[in-house]
Amino acid sequence: MKVTVVGAGAVGATCADNIARKELCTELVLLDIKEGFAEGKAQDMMQTAALLGFDTKITGSTNDYSKTAGSDVVVITSGLPRKPGMTREELIGTNAGIVKGVCENILKYSPNAIIIVISNPMDTMTYLALTATGLPKNRIIGMGGTLDSSRFKYQLSQHLGCSPSDLNALVVGGHGDTTMIPLIRYATWNSAPVTDFLSAEQQQQIINDTMVGGATLTKLIGTSAWYAPGAAGAALVESIVRDEKKLFTCCVSLEGEYGQKDICLGVPVTIGRNGWEKIIDLKLNAEEQAAFNKSADAVRSMNDVLKTL
Ligand code: 2OP
Repeated sequence: MKVTVVGAGAVGATCADNIARKELCTELVLLDIKEGFAEGKAQDMMQTAALLGFDTKITGSTNDYSKTAGSDVVVITSGLPRKPGMTREELIGTNAGIVKGVCENILKYSPNAIIIVISNPMDTMTYLALTATGLPKNRIIGMGGTLDSSRFKYQLSQHLGCSPSDLNALVVGGHGDTTMIPLIRYATWNSAPVTDFLSAEQQQQIINDTMVGGATLTKLIGTSAWYAPGAAGAALVESIVRDEKKLFTCCVSLEGEYGQKDICLGVPVTIGRNGWEKIIDLKLNAEEQAAFNKSADAVRSMNDVLKTL
């Protein structure tokens, strides 16, 4: 099994580090445009192999896509990260060209790869990857909801005083501060509805804090977060390479599901060896469906910007 991570910045390197530690593949390529950067990070990670006990072989490449040939999964993290006060959407002008170029180069050498998109604005970059490559829809997966759902579980755990891994919780819709929809009605603590244990005020606080999760960290750190985004990318790689068919919220192409089409948006899907395999059709109530439609409108107008670039 071979995996490539494009972009050796904080998110890409963290994702690669997680992939290597879990030995999700035998060969892992880290690629970046900055001369020597990916090679350096790959070597640094390889120097943890004896300490951490993994056998994945990590190599770096400065923009030489021939090194990525035959990849089964490719994670795209390239592009600018957010600065404090910036929305993810403001990155579209720069990142669209970068992501399109990366997709073209990747497919030259790995025509069968499954592509995971992390670059922002993630929903629009996923739509761009789908339309620019013309790949079967199941092979294009946007990571956003996987990260947002993990952040949602973290916020819930803080109020419930419980382990985040004892929680089931989904964030659907877009991966934007105002477009994501934490579905608290569906969230459970080892099967018990979390709403049984939280006041209405607490529930609203958790939803609000989840939605601005990325922005809060950008303000604290001075740039976009990387531990959880990188781990979310690696969790998707794991479900693909091990054919786990785990359920994650991912940004995928909708063709009528959830009342939307010609758009990529976050919905629960199973992830396995064929990419995203099945969309799980949650029975949203009227309020949740209205929020989903509003989220789709916002993402669609961002997708329209692609035509003007
Ligand atoms: C975040 O929310 C990188 O979009 C990513 O932190």
